[in-house]
Amino acid sequence: MDTLNQEIAYMDKTTENKDSQPAAITERSRFLVPRENRETVGDIAVENPRMTCRNVNVYYGQKHAIKNVSLDIGRNEVLAMIGPSGCGKSTFIRCLNRMNDTIESCRVTGEIELDGANIYDKSIDVVPLRAQVGMVFQKPNPFPKSIYDNIAYGPKIHGLAENKAELDDIVETSLKKAGLWDEVKDAMDHPGTGLSGGQQQRLCIARTIAVSPEVILMDEPCSALDPIATAVIEDLIDDGGGNRIQGRAGFIH
Ligand SMILES: Nc1ncnc2c1ncn2[C@@H]1O[C@H](COP(=O)(O)OP(=O)(O)O)[C@@H](O)[C@H]1O
Ligand SMILES: [Mg+2]
Repeated sequence: MDTLNQEIAYMDKTTENKDSQPAAITERSRFLVPRENRETVGDIAVENPRMTCRNVNVYYGQKHAIKNVSLDIGRNEVLAMIGPSGCGKSTFIRCLNRMNDTIESCRVTGEIELDGANIYDKSIDVVPLRAQVGMVFQKPNPFPKSIYDNIAYGPKIHGLAENKAELDDIVETSLKKAGLWDEVKDAMDHPGTGLSGGQQQRLCIARTIAVSPEVILMDEPCSALDPIATAVIEDLIDDGGGNRIQGRAGFIH
């Protein structure tokens, strides 16, 4: 792991092969380039980025887990990060809402900005930051509360509703956006943990949406789900932005 070059290589079809790579190496077999020869290809920058990461390094104690990653995340963009297990996908996305702060041995260097502001600045309060940059985890983790309270909790602590009617509205809208409303509207007082895996993951997505985040980080949100539940969540990711303009994939190795 320590020997891997962890620069991000983009599968950008418009990118010319670099001279240093044999011509026979096609886009599809780009991964077969020896690790020591791998380099960043494609554009790390986008026009009008929402988030900007430059020279991000992450260490767990002595272990250098992320090496010099630079990448922009665009407005209305769905960005997929692909790579083998242990390559640092979770570590990288946890940098984007300072979730790594909760891991004692973890140290992050480099610059990460949200709308031009450094999220690692001393003046930044991580509680509103994590509402702005929400996260859905690999394994659904509903709160041990009712379905209603799972969604209402965030808006309540962030003061997003003036009264019960407004809160009810946020709960309903969030569950509708997450494609779960019809399945749970008559069971709002049932425990969130009693739902199926796919429903729990949509509940967690609704919980994230409820505080109107600017960016949603999803760490393999479908890995614990069956193909039907996966398709529902993938549709939701596609439609989530409403006015999404493009999708992009990055390969991290
Ligand atoms: N909390 C942690 N403490 C120490 N090492 C960690 C921790 N989390 C992840 N790592 C290490 O960092 C590397 C990247 O892990 P991770 O980000 O989970 O990869 P991925 O999500 O791509 O599977 C791995 O070598 C993993 O063992
Ligand atoms: Mg992971």
